[in-house]
Formats: sequence, C-alpha cells, structure tokens
Amino acid sequence: MIIVILEFRKTMTISIQTTADGSQTVFSDQFQETYHSVNGAIVESKHVFIEAGFNTSTLPSITVFEAGFGTGLNALLTLLEARKRGINVVYHSIELYPLQQSIIDGLEYAGLLSSDRELFRALHDAPWNRVTSITPWFELKKIKADLLDFTPDDNFDVIYFDAFSPNIQPDLWSKTVFQKLYDKMNCNGILTTYCAKGVVRRTLQEVGFSVERLAGPPGKREMLRGKKVMNIPVRIFKS
Ligand SMILES: C[S@@+](CC[C@H](N)C(=O)[O-])C[C@H]1O[C@@H](n2cnc3c(N)ncnc32)[C@H](O)[C@@H]1O
Repeated sequence: MIIVILEFRKTMTISIQTTADGSQTVFSDQFQETYHSVNGAIVESKHVFIEAGFNTSTLPSITVFEAGFGTGLNALLTLLEARKRGINVVYHSIELYPLQQSIIDGLEYAGLLSSDRELFRALHDAPWNRVTSITPWFELKKIKADLLDFTPDDNFDVIYFDAFSPNIQPDLWSKTVFQKLYDKMNCNGILTTYCAKGVVRRTLQEVGFSVERLAGPPGKREMLRGKKVMNIPVRIFKS
C-alpha cells in the first residue's frame, strides 16, 4: 500500500515551466530541480551538449550515451544536428523516471526548432530497452534503469552527462559512475556536462579524463568537458 501511495505522489509532482529563451522545461517536485536551466532550456542544451559535445566529433557515425533522457530535448537536438551534418547517430539514453504522457504531450520543442512534431513523438514512443530506428540516420535505445547499477555494453564517442545536480544526486557524480563510463569510451571520446563544480572536475580527472573548463551557457560562468586521451607509449630507437 505504501508503494502505491509513493508511486501516486511521483506521478503528481511534475510540472512544465517556460524558460528565458521561450522554451519549456520540467520541474520535479521530487528532486526540487528543473530539468534544464531557467535561463533557457534549448539554449543550454545546444551550448553544453551539441556545440561542446556532439559537434566536436568529426566521425561519420557517432555513438552517444546520455545520462537522463528526461524530456528528450537533447535527443531531438542531436537528431536534427545529425540530419544537418549528414551523419549517422546511435543514441543510448538511460532514464529511471520516465515522464508521464500528459507532460510529454505538453512539451512544444518541435515548433521552436522548426521540426516535425512526429520526430519528437517517435523518440518518446520508442519502446524501452530495444534499439529503434527513428530515422535512417538516427538509432535510439532508451534504457529504463538506474545509472547507479548500470554498466554499458557498448562503447561511446560522446557522453552527455545530464543528471540532476551533484547537490541533489551526489551518488550519480561519483568516481564509481564516472569510471564505468570512462572505461566504455572510445579513444578521444568526450564527456560534456553543464556542471562546473571543482569536486566534479577532480573526480573526472581521477578516473582518467583530461578536463577543460569552458564558458557556460547563459547564467553559468563555466561548464566542464572531459576527454579520454590515450597515452600511447612511444619507443625511441637509436640508430
Ligand atoms: C536534469 S534531468 C535531464 C534532462 C534531460 N536530459 C532532458 O533533456 O530533458 C535529469 C534526468 O535524470 C533522470 N534520473 C534521475 N535519477 C536517475 C538515475 N538514478 N538513473 C537514471 N536516470 C535518472 C531524471 O528522471 C531526469 O530525467
């Protein structure tokens, strides 16, 4: 009975808000945090994940892992960017608390991005834990699981680390989680996050990332980007 009440509360505690760039985000009562910056959801996602992450890879086919599928905004932006660049994407995204259909139906990203609403709907309608071809260039696997217990099977070129903030969910920003992701990254793989906290930067460095502090999106001075740089031993032969 207690479980039923908690589940009921969980579905009652999400609301849509409009952010400074006119795009929407979602507020979670459970975590007391919005899914994106109130200074602009689309502006933040494009800045942190597309420009500082996805667009730094020049591969013709990019494998992305996202921590926190949420509204599907990052997935939609990635799909549209891949179409613009004429490249293929395999996109894996983990989510423990999928949004209710009524919230998904209330999100208006497609119009603001001059995109077909069907694409956004297709991302959300895709079944969990199965690979689905959303378009000929975009393959999606939504994983319904807890990031804490999850070990990816595949290797990734780009990771969007978009969990709730370390103050709210410190366990997700731990060495254990970052180490698992680092181990599954391809050489020169990029992890990008809106967070700029010193403790997160040091944890990323501890697991092996080379970390840069970049200019943040509106309302944030900085953000972080980690790179998996492989040190290949160089042998010097004497003649
Ligand atoms: C900051 S929001 C991410 C927003 C999302 N990337 C988007 O574009 O809407 C954090 C997301 O992580 C999810 N989440 C929270 N705890 C999680 C966990 N332990 N494992 C997987 N996902 C989790 C939340 O439900 C939420 O969707």
